[in-house]
Amino acid sequence: MKSLRHIVQIATVTAAIALLPTALSAGAAPDYQAAVNAAYAKYKDSAEGKNADYIPALAKVDSKIYGIALVTPDGKVYSAGDLKSEVSIQSISKVFTMAKVMEDSGTDAIEKRIGVDATGMRFNSIVSVEFAEKALGGPEINPLVNPGAITSTSMVTGKTRAEVWKKILDFHSDFAGRPLSVNQEVFKSEADTNQRNQAIGQLMYAYGFIKENPNQAVDIYTEQCAISVNAKDLAVMAATLANAGKNPVTGKQVMKAANVPEVLAVMATAGLYDDSGKWLYHTGLPAKSGVGGGIIAVSPGKFGIAVISPRLDDAGNSVRAQKAIADISNALGGNPYGR
Ligand code: DON
Repeated sequence: MKSLRHIVQIATVTAAIALLPTALSAGAAPDYQAAVNAAYAKYKDSAEGKNADYIPALAKVDSKIYGIALVTPDGKVYSAGDLKSEVSIQSISKVFTMAKVMEDSGTDAIEKRIGVDATGMRFNSIVSVEFAEKALGGPEINPLVNPGAITSTSMVTGKTRAEVWKKILDFHSDFAGRPLSVNQEVFKSEADTNQRNQAIGQLMYAYGFIKENPNQAVDIYTEQCAISVNAKDLAVMAATLANAGKNPVTGKQVMKAANVPEVLAVMATAGLYDDSGKWLYHTGLPAKSGVGGGIIAVSPGKFGIAVISPRLDDAGNSVRAQKAIADISNALGGNPYGR
């Protein structure tokens, strides 16, 4: 009897020791899903901000859409809320078209032609172009504000419009890990009302930033902004940047690892426009917003995250997306500068 109890005790201790490493590593690993759930619940009922309406089709998008997705470099997806609804990618596309130019023409091409400095002005500021040209004497803007983004689009090479467009759409699709398509209603709505961007395109041409065919550059830029994405698409795109250019879900090396730091640097400098400094101060994360309501953010080597929620603040950045991403990243130790 005594020896049987002894055997049972030994078996129990052995089983506990065998389980120990699993429990320890599970305890040490950050609980991604809990962080995502907590931020989702905290901001679920927030109705702060309002949809962009300077593009008429965006005013009609359901303001209640709220989806969060986080993807790790090993391809695991953590999510909460609406992953099905799609919004137009808008300015988040600027990151990937900039990256395409870096891939094809090198990182210097972006710095020399457009610049990589914050403008401190709104994303569609014409004054920023005048200031760069007259006061600063050249390429002193960046590819994440409209003048720089339209110029990036003009730098994607191709013999025909169709060839340039295919390169841009395929590149975005490789980042997302699925074939993306365009929301034609949003494309038409913006194309019908984008006289300001047309003026910016002409100005960039007049000053020699755009070398030829500014109308085509604005048209393709407008189409890239209408690419339709859900929260998971955006998170996989962000995670591909977090994973040194390799899509963690498909395994495809989408861009050169060597060019990723420059992409992230421009996102850190200008991803949330004139609020980029504040954002970086609180999160440390390279990020990019779009007036469709999406924001992506990248914690290099740790995760890519995206939130979609169409209500924006005055700077044009989604209110709930900023709050949810900041909370989740801070809970997971995502700030690359430490803490
Ligand atoms: O060019 C525009 O105004 C829009 N297609 C994109 C602007 C945008 O997303 C600014 N983002 N926060």
